[in-house]
Amino acid sequence: MKVTVVGAGNVGATCADVLAYKEVCNEVVLVDIKDGLSEGKSLDIFQKAPINLYDTKTIGSTNDYTKTKDSDVVVITSGLPRKPGMSRDDLIGTNAKIVKSVTENIIKHSPNSIIIIVSNPLDVMTYQAHLTSNFDRNRVMGMAGILDTARFRAFISDELNVSPKDIQALLLGGHGDTMVPLPRYTTVSGIPISELIEEDKLNEIIERTKFGGGELVKLMGTSAWYAPGAAAAQMVESIIRDQKRIFPVCIKLEGEYNIDDCYLGVPVVLGSKGIEKVIELKLNSDERELLEESRNHVKEVMSVLENL
Ligand code: LAC
Repeated sequence: MKVTVVGAGNVGATCADVLAYKEVCNEVVLVDIKDGLSEGKSLDIFQKAPINLYDTKTIGSTNDYTKTKDSDVVVITSGLPRKPGMSRDDLIGTNAKIVKSVTENIIKHSPNSIIIIVSNPLDVMTYQAHLTSNFDRNRVMGMAGILDTARFRAFISDELNVSPKDIQALLLGGHGDTMVPLPRYTTVSGIPISELIEEDKLNEIIERTKFGGGELVKLMGTSAWYAPGAAAAQMVESIIRDQKRIFPVCIKLEGEYNIDDCYLGVPVVLGSKGIEKVIELKLNSDERELLEESRNHVKEVMSVLENL
């Protein structure tokens, strides 16, 4: 199995590293426009193999897409990251052009691949990749839900002083301030979260989660990479190994949740065919309202893309 990761910046390189380390595939091709960067990072990951004991091949390529030929899964991380004070939506003009051109190159050499978008603004860049590739919607998806849910789970584990392994949670909507964490679907080893954390404290955690990406941009002057890279790799793994795991993933909704023609994060089953099923939750009216808000926001940014 072969996976291409486009963009050898922090997120792309982390994703390639996790894929190699976990031997998710036989070959990882890392592509970047910056001369030598992907070759250098691939070589570095390869030199870690005797230490961490893996034999996945890592190959770097400066913008030569022939090396990506016949990839099974492609992760696109290309584009500018946020700087302090920017919202993800501020990146749309620059990143839409980049994602379009990368997608064109990818589909030329890997027409049967499954594409995972990580570039921001996430939901609308998934839309861009879908427009450009014309692939079925089950083969073009965005990574955000695993990351946002992981932040929510990490903060809960910290608050309760229990292992992050035991926190299960779910989150819907766009990858932005309007994301919709779902406390009703959040448990700690099966125990409803409402039995363990006071409502006020939980609301604080929800707010922190919504701005979790921004918190890191403020601290580091650029956006995060360890959790985003690992989250993308987890989606690749579920597809390559046909694990059929259930994750929140950004997909074009076509009537699910009574929403049409909008790219939003919802729980799906991820397997060798890509998104194999969209799971529709029975939302209550408050959750429904929050999802509508998120939809309206993503729709606005989608129309900015359409008018570029
Ligand atoms: C974040 C970026 C990757 O949330 O969107 O950290």
